[in-house]
Amino acid sequence: MRQPSPTAYSRLQIRLHWLVFALLVLQYLLHEPITEAFDMVEEGVASVLSPLVAAHVFGGFLIFVLAGARIYLRMERGVPPLPETDPPLQRMAARVTHLGLYALLIAMPVSGALAWFRGNEAAAEAHEVMRIILLALIALHLGAALYHQFIVKDGLMQRMRRGDPV
Ligand code: HEM
Ligand code: HEM
Repeated sequence: MRQPSPTAYSRLQIRLHWLVFALLVLQYLLHEPITEAFDMVEEGVASVLSPLVAAHVFGGFLIFVLAGARIYLRMERGVPPLPETDPPLQRMAARVTHLGLYALLIAMPVSGALAWFRGNEAAAEAHEVMRIILLALIALHLGAALYHQFIVKDGLMQRMRRGDPV
């Protein structure tokens, strides 16, 4: 039988949310070296595996693992229900956005790995397109969080600040 939804995110869920956020910032800031290295490989010039290229690969791998942990916790422990006060359409938009974010946190590293380790051109193109969709979803997500904080003033942000110990 399914457990009732918790009333708050756990501390671990909150830590993972912000850790993934910090790693994503690094992935976007440090993409130049891997883009250049990938261009060189495509042109047939052997490229050196620099620390910044390795950081992009390792950072992406870490995001993959942490996103997997988040999805597992979501299924095992559950998450607090979306605010009852939100109109149904808004809650539906939140659900779709969250689903899209989780999907891209998995699809970005997978496409990146296929491009880098297999030289798969279609995966490289998908990686490029998805990075823009991911940014758009994050902007939407941030916009929604700010809307709740400053317009609705329902304290939703607190849910990603202090959590349940379990
Ligand atoms: C969530 C994780 C990841 C994010 C957010 C991310 C983000 C990015 C961004 C913003 C670019 C620049 C695209 C461009 O300049 O057009 C890029 C390029 C690239 N990334 Fe990632 N990346 C992630 C994971 C990975 C992983 C795990 C690998 C490899 C194992 C990887 C391999 C590559 C490669 C090969 C490129 C160059 C692609 C090209 O120029 O067509 N990425 N990534
Ligand atoms: C830009 C700064 C960010 C802020 C201020 C923020 C804020 C929040 C808040 C307040 C919630 C709780 C929403 C609720 O309880 O209904 C939340 C949930 C969530 N955030 Fe963020 N977030 C940020 C960045 C990100 C990023 C970069 C991602 C990555 C992909 C992300 C993915 C998610 C997901 C998937 C959920 C839903 C968790 C669940 O219920 O399963 N957030 N965020």
